[in-house]
Amino acid sequence: MSPLKSNIESFPCVSEDYIRGLNQSVVAAPVVSASRKRVLIEKIKGLLKQQDAVLVAHYYTHNDLQELAEATGGFVSDSLDMARFGNEHPASTLLVAGVRFMGETAKILNPEKRILMPTLQAECSLDLSCPAETFVPFCDEHPDRTVVVYANTSAAVKARADWVVTSSIGAKLVKHLHERGEKILWAPDKYLGSYIQKVTGADMLLWQGFCVVHDEFKSGELEKLRQKHPDAAVLVHPESPDEVIAQADVVGSTTALINAVNQSTAEKFIVATDNGIFYKMRQVAPGKKLIEAPTGGSGASCSSCAHCGWMAMNGLENIATTLEQGCNEVTVNEDVRVKAYQSVKRMIDFSKTL
Ligand code: 13P
Ligand code: SF4
Repeated sequence: MSPLKSNIESFPCVSEDYIRGLNQSVVAAPVVSASRKRVLIEKIKGLLKQQDAVLVAHYYTHNDLQELAEATGGFVSDSLDMARFGNEHPASTLLVAGVRFMGETAKILNPEKRILMPTLQAECSLDLSCPAETFVPFCDEHPDRTVVVYANTSAAVKARADWVVTSSIGAKLVKHLHERGEKILWAPDKYLGSYIQKVTGADMLLWQGFCVVHDEFKSGELEKLRQKHPDAAVLVHPESPDEVIAQADVVGSTTALINAVNQSTAEKFIVATDNGIFYKMRQVAPGKKLIEAPTGGSGASCSSCAHCGWMAMNGLENIATTLEQGCNEVTVNEDVRVKAYQSVKRMIDFSKTL
């Protein structure tokens, strides 16, 4: 059976097994020795200056990259603020450490800048589970619906959308559209879509994609862990399954979860998102105890380690090579970019009204 059902009559269009298999051959960046790390960091610092480049990294990337971004005047954040920072920073080259849609979003917003990524192979299961060839005809079948897509999509999918959103503003935007009487076609994350549907009451038709990492958080095991730690606050990224979200004290984007650790009176947290985020959480609240939410368990699958294999492809070695050789440049077809710009710019402008 074709993993992507080409006939839109057979919605949900993507098979779950196909999505679960997407990251099976992903290889993480190599671990470097302490001495090699020192050499690479000095080299990268020099190359960033020489090339008028700034490093923008996601919270899920390796600690070394987050540290380096901050030490060199770059930025570490969630996907919305990465886009905003890249758009406002004067550097002529943005080096985006994250996954492909983040590099593409940077290019969509900044066509005049050179956008480099440590690797162009870092994908995202949400993006891959929503190919434009299937998604565009699906939207055409539903002309009465406003098309809202998550940032974790390709430039071509963004080009078909009316709006792009990230997890930090998805519910606010859908509430706004719902109050205007609009019906929504939402893609690609079924869990985030279902969560937003619950909190806004909007009429939403949901694409059935999911994140292979967050899909692994297990609600039954989480209940047991909560009983063991009744004093812990539960923090959940909304890409997680409904039954996991239902147990959360705080549901939010990566930045919202970090803020929760910093601002909450709790001293202990169970965290259901990629464990790369622990680096920043420890930085903002050094004394607090962080516990990983339970997943399928070690050995269950390569997704069940609470860490995104594609994010792990970014490393110091490939950052140095990329800057040195000027390789891994992100390009987006200009017609597609101009269309995608409208929906991404709308998101940025809407975020400024909040
Ligand atoms: P944020 O927008 O919260 O950073 O999430 C991006 C992402 O890919 C989470 O898996
Ligand atoms: Fe995509 Fe999930 Fe990885 Fe985020 S954690 S980049 S949603 S695969």
